[in-house]
Amino acid sequence: MPASEEPTPGPEGLIDRRISRKTVLRAAAVLGTAPLLVGGGVALARDRAGTGEAPGLTPACHDGDDPTIEQTEGPYFKPNSPLRTSLITNSTPGTRLTVSGYVFGRACLPIAGVLLDFWQADVNGAYDNVGFTFRGHQFTDAQGAFSLTTIVPGLYPGRTRHIHVKLQAPGRPVLTTQLYFPGEPRNSTDTIYDARLLMNVRQVGSAKEGTYDFVLNVPQTPTTPPTSPGPSTTPTTPPTTPPGGSWTVGTLYNAGDRVTYSGVSYQCLQGHTAVTGWEPPNVPALWKRL
Ligand SMILES: [Fe+2]
Repeated sequence: MPASEEPTPGPEGLIDRRISRKTVLRAAAVLGTAPLLVGGGVALARDRAGTGEAPGLTPACHDGDDPTIEQTEGPYFKPNSPLRTSLITNSTPGTRLTVSGYVFGRACLPIAGVLLDFWQADVNGAYDNVGFTFRGHQFTDAQGAFSLTTIVPGLYPGRTRHIHVKLQAPGRPVLTTQLYFPGEPRNSTDTIYDARLLMNVRQVGSAKEGTYDFVLNVPQTPTTPPTSPGPSTTPTTPPTTPPGGSWTVGTLYNAGDRVTYSGVSYQCLQGHTAVTGWEPPNVPALWKRL
């Protein structure tokens, strides 16, 4: 039986408990049939649950979100894990779990090619420190998305339920952290646990689906219109077509509407008014790729 992970994370300083736009969007994606607030906002089920409070306004995405916090690696990390998105086989015991989401930089732009190296305990709470069971790495795709197929990790003494992960954007430092499950009794007693690392988890039949979006401390320049070289006295003519395609901020879209974004066609799944950060690739609850 593995020992508890004794180290506690160093003081991180107080970071506002903010409900990010991305979190809202992922919550919408998780819900599938995300409830829409009056005015077009997407309600965040997780933050409403248990508090009885209506979700607050979300900060503008381009303001930049706090990076995902770092957590202790613990004693069970092993380098050189296999490249794979599934850590299980048909005969692996345990409750099936998928963990999916996006990796963003500081300007809320998704990052492709980010390494995610996951490791976790088996259904009995034990780590495989000889082989590579429940260890695997993968890379975010062109949209900055990742997806892990695994089981709900078992409990072991001293810790609440968690999944370890290391992330590294190309050419950037490694972020080591952990993901947590809502509603776990030990969340309130585990000194390493941090609610900022809670996944959204929903039950789907006998399986669970967790989502989480990471934010890495990677500087990004928000997309800006190209500037003409050198000083010019000629006013810039606004483009007739938005750089992203026919999708346009401020437009009221109805279910069934079709748009293009970055050369890809999408169909609207739920009526809403488009806002920055809700570009079709970012909001699978609102747009289906055609
Ligand atoms: Fe652990």
